Amino acid sequence: MSRTVFLNGQYLPEEDAKISIFDRGFLMADGVYEVVSVLDGKLLEFDGHLARLERSLNELEMGKPKDYDDLLEINRELVRLNNIESGRVYWQITRGAADRDFVYPKDAEPTLVLFTQEAGLIDTPASKTGIKVIFADDLRWHRRDIKTVQLLYPSMCKMMAKAAGKHDAWLVEDGKITEGSSNNAYIVKDGQIITRELSNDILHGITRNSVLRLAKEAQLQVVERSFTEEEARNADEAFITSATTFVQPVVEIDNAQIGDGTPGPIAKRLLEIYIEESRKTGI
Ligand code: PDD
Repeated sequence: MSRTVFLNGQYLPEEDAKISIFDRGFLMADGVYEVVSVLDGKLLEFDGHLARLERSLNELEMGKPKDYDDLLEINRELVRLNNIESGRVYWQITRGAADRDFVYPKDAEPTLVLFTQEAGLIDTPASKTGIKVIFADDLRWHRRDIKTVQLLYPSMCKMMAKAAGKHDAWLVEDGKITEGSSNNAYIVKDGQIITRELSNDILHGITRNSVLRLAKEAQLQVVERSFTEEEARNADEAFITSATTFVQPVVEIDNAQIGDGTPGPIAKRLLEIYIEESRKTGI
């Protein structure tokens, strides 16, 4: 059955939603996006994702689409129309359609697209067994704090991981881990949760922000600093966070088994706390 999607003010069957061949998202990857999870039919971390979207738009001097102020309502309507109990909503905004030019067009109307996906979020196989990651050079541009639709390198990294029989890649720059290909990366050593500090080197994860706050509230020790490949391989535990994975344990890094090769206690606890909090705060 076809989904209902949202395009520039209209709810449409997905096959009827069409955009211009001159859309700058298509021509120049001139667009930004967000992904919001839906649990029990409720949107998680809506305000955080909206704030980051606004920041991405500002950083790229991109205007807001017409229906921007109705985003919450549009999300809720799409969740309702597509009967999403567990899944996600993607928000995609591009600078709009204009004759091809590197210079930003003055009068283009931004394109706004929202679509849903159904997906399991709780008790997923990966949360039970953990995932295995490889290292890959971080070859992305240096404004990783902006959530743009330039996702080719992350796709290539996922393909490299798949070819190696693993699940994902952790990206490495100057011998230090920046983040996962589509998530933030953490190790645990001697009870300390270690994750790279915020800068333009990584995306400022909305899940990261909540998980670190919840960790501190649970009296766990959090240290925001970069860590090396060697430290990652020798970690007691490791995990990733993102809107789509929540807290997902990592049990192998660059062929080194982490801990006893099963999800570690801190990752498991943080996942439980995060789900509990999400069930309370979803809107
Ligand atoms: N990815 N780092 C990168 C490079 C990401 O692409 C993501 C999210 C994160 C985690 O951010 P958040 O906790 O706000 O989801 C970190 C999403 C899930 C995606 O592209 O599918």
